[in-house]
Amino acid sequence: MPAPGPRTAQWPELTTHATRLGAVATRELFTRDPGRFERLSRQGAGLLMDFSRQHLDETVLATLVALADAVGLREHREAMWRGEKINSTEGRAVLHVALRQRPGALIGGAQIAREVLEERERMLAFAEGVRSGRIAGSSGKAFNRVVNIGIGGSDLGPAMAVRALRRYTLDAPRCEFVSNVDGNRLADILQDADPRSTLFIVSSKTFTTLETLTNARTARAWLREKLGEEAVREHFAAVSVNHRAMDEFGVHPQHRFKMWDWVGGRYSLWSSIGVALAIAIGREAFLQLLAGGHEMDEHFRTTAWQDNLPALLGLIGIWNINFQMLPTVAVLPYDERLGRLPAYLQQLEMESNGKSVTLEGRPVQWQTAAVIWGEPGNNAQHSFFQLLHQGTQRAALDLLLPAKSSCDNQGQQDLAIASCLAQAEAFMAGLPSAAVRADLEQAQLPPERIEALTPHKVHPGSRPSTLIAFPRLDPATLGRLIALYEHKVFTQGVVWGINSFDQWGVELGKKLCEQLVPSVRDPDGTPAASPGVARLIAQLAEWRAQP
Ligand code: F6P
Repeated sequence: MPAPGPRTAQWPELTTHATRLGAVATRELFTRDPGRFERLSRQGAGLLMDFSRQHLDETVLATLVALADAVGLREHREAMWRGEKINSTEGRAVLHVALRQRPGALIGGAQIAREVLEERERMLAFAEGVRSGRIAGSSGKAFNRVVNIGIGGSDLGPAMAVRALRRYTLDAPRCEFVSNVDGNRLADILQDADPRSTLFIVSSKTFTTLETLTNARTARAWLREKLGEEAVREHFAAVSVNHRAMDEFGVHPQHRFKMWDWVGGRYSLWSSIGVALAIAIGREAFLQLLAGGHEMDEHFRTTAWQDNLPALLGLIGIWNINFQMLPTVAVLPYDERLGRLPAYLQQLEMESNGKSVTLEGRPVQWQTAAVIWGEPGNNAQHSFFQLLHQGTQRAALDLLLPAKSSCDNQGQQDLAIASCLAQAEAFMAGLPSAAVRADLEQAQLPPERIEALTPHKVHPGSRPSTLIAFPRLDPATLGRLIALYEHKVFTQGVVWGINSFDQWGVELGKKLCEQLVPSVRDPDGTPAASPGVARLIAQLAEWRAQP
């Protein structure tokens, strides 16, 4: 395979372009070329991506596209689709694209395609059974509450999507999500749950995850106490690759769903890990989500880089991280229902590309994944936008904007649209001191007041944003958006020459936690090895003992 981006001829060229554009404000680029929108925006797979407010020009774009060729993005993409073991440290193929395939397609080969479709149908039949009441609790009562117990990829995808697609959940059981180990969320849910109509889904690819198993055992004990041991079979479903663990837990064979080791946790919403979502939105809407994801796959697989939305999003991210020195991306959806998208993308991007060695295990000499953060747009405007407009730190911004209201209140969505566009312009153009002065003079302020106020009111601008607009937040669009970001992450991983599909960085903390549990529970019996930690545990134990 070709060398990663920093070892290509395009890398130094991009450094030169960054220097060339360094002294120019983005608003100046618009003055020079009023046709930037036409030149620097693209439509594809149902989305409009406007990157005209990024601090780049067509020459930079062409160089980024050449970079994609130079790193062999096409060959890497084809290797993924062919099912090669591109997750080299775990010896696994990476085939989440196979989960979105249509009947008749053979992505991943005939056997995988057949298994995917069979399992999809089993899961969707189960979801429909729960929705209709055909599959009911041990007392015959229909389920009106579904509690998904999982964490990371076994939580964030379904939780984000259930919230995003609330419009499609009418008459469905209410879906709740429990992830953290402290048990607080579960306790809140159990407080007013009717055990006869509550279904728990234990979602865990490995079925060994501390948080999930702890919450699952607590839920199981609660159910057993309320309805007896026999009810466990009817009130628990599970999704995992670990059949033995599901046996041991006592999950009914027909309420178990399969996973495969070629699906990474953070890419698993499309599999049976999405069962809570399927219960919430129903079969047809779930299939539309898959169809939207597949549409984006086809777009990524067949479109030239210069018009390829995920590739461009990834390449522009490379420009911002490696050449504009912007280490974070704020994800700002102008639809409240996308409120968990930033958290979802945090795992997708940061667990995938938060790496500092190359595929060959050598330290990288370049920055990799950005820190992802964010909040629905208008909330963000009234909290951290101040820093983004005028602070000393700068961030790249992704603005997500539906045209239609998700709750049929178009009047209010129009305000969200105006807010989003206004912010995009303000971040780009800023407000130079001459304009500030002119405003203050017009307001007839005394000269010394104008002098004093002007520096405080200047907005430097040149804060780069990409605006991703779409007609409405429906299942297909959500599928397109998620797949857009998945392939963005893939593109960046290829450019940086890293493995986007392992996550060794989460193991150390897990191991240390296991070692510390006995010390926390019994500080005198099993003192912690580290003196500082032992002191903390002692203090916490003292407070814990207080009434
Ligand atoms: O700790 C990280 C992680 O391994 C994620 O990659 C994964 O999504 C999550 O834990 C949950 O894992 P599981 O589905 O096996 O419980």
